[in-house]
Amino acid sequence: MQEEISIPNHIGFIMDGNGRWAKKRGLIRTKGHQEGLETAKKIIKYSSDIGIKYVSLYAFSTENWKRTQEEVSFLMLLIKKHLKKEYNFYRENQIRVVHSGNLDGLPSDVKDEILSVVSDTSMYQGLTVNLLINYGGRDEIVRAVNKIIKNDKFDFITESDIKDHLDNPQIPDVDLMIRSSGEERLSNFLLWQCAYSEFYYSNVLWPDFSTDDLDMAIEAYKNRNRRFGGLHDK
Ligand code: IPE
Ligand code: IPE
Ligand code: MG
Repeated sequence: MQEEISIPNHIGFIMDGNGRWAKKRGLIRTKGHQEGLETAKKIIKYSSDIGIKYVSLYAFSTENWKRTQEEVSFLMLLIKKHLKKEYNFYRENQIRVVHSGNLDGLPSDVKDEILSVVSDTSMYQGLTVNLLINYGGRDEIVRAVNKIIKNDKFDFITESDIKDHLDNPQIPDVDLMIRSSGEERLSNFLLWQCAYSEFYYSNVLWPDFSTDDLDMAIEAYKNRNRRFGGLHDK
């Protein structure tokens, strides 16, 4: 019989469906984002409680600038306010926050808030929460290569050179990628780190995503047979 694998070390969340959640209720899209943030907090807390080591949350992609200015500004404000307000939440749960994405493309107040929460939580030893803000997988790889070029190493590069220049090289690859809302695509999420991830799609819209839904995803993951190019179970 196939042996069950242990809980994932790193879970990536594509938190999708906020807009549709709001629309279904006759609300404006921003209400969906507000509710989605509450869900994110709940999922972070639960992941920390059950001993997950790394959680990556896709909050704003490099493609999301295409949305209306109103929605983009709202999302930026929401992110900034959350980071300012939730420092105690991160401290109480010993959660370390890190950021992935292009900081330079963000409004300076958002950038400052990110830098300050990252620095203020850097000593915590519990769950690591990787917030993807102005993040694109291709953009991250291109920035990594440019960092290498800047260091004058451009005759020959290896996989480890690229990996070492990603935004958070200390974070292991994604074991389980969960996308809510029924969409089955990667949308530029952690392209490098998802090379061998298990994918799990849920039809639940992100604001409704519950700890039971997460348990179901983890259960499904435990029954997967991860081969990494090798052979079926021994
Ligand atoms: C995900 O929800 C949140 C962000 C992309 C910021 P959406 O806003 O994409 O919600 P839908 O897909 O329109 O329902
Ligand atoms: C992906 O969701 C980005 C985030 C969840 C932040 P989108 O809603 O932007 O993705 P697409 O446009 O449906 O691929
Ligand atoms: Mg969407």
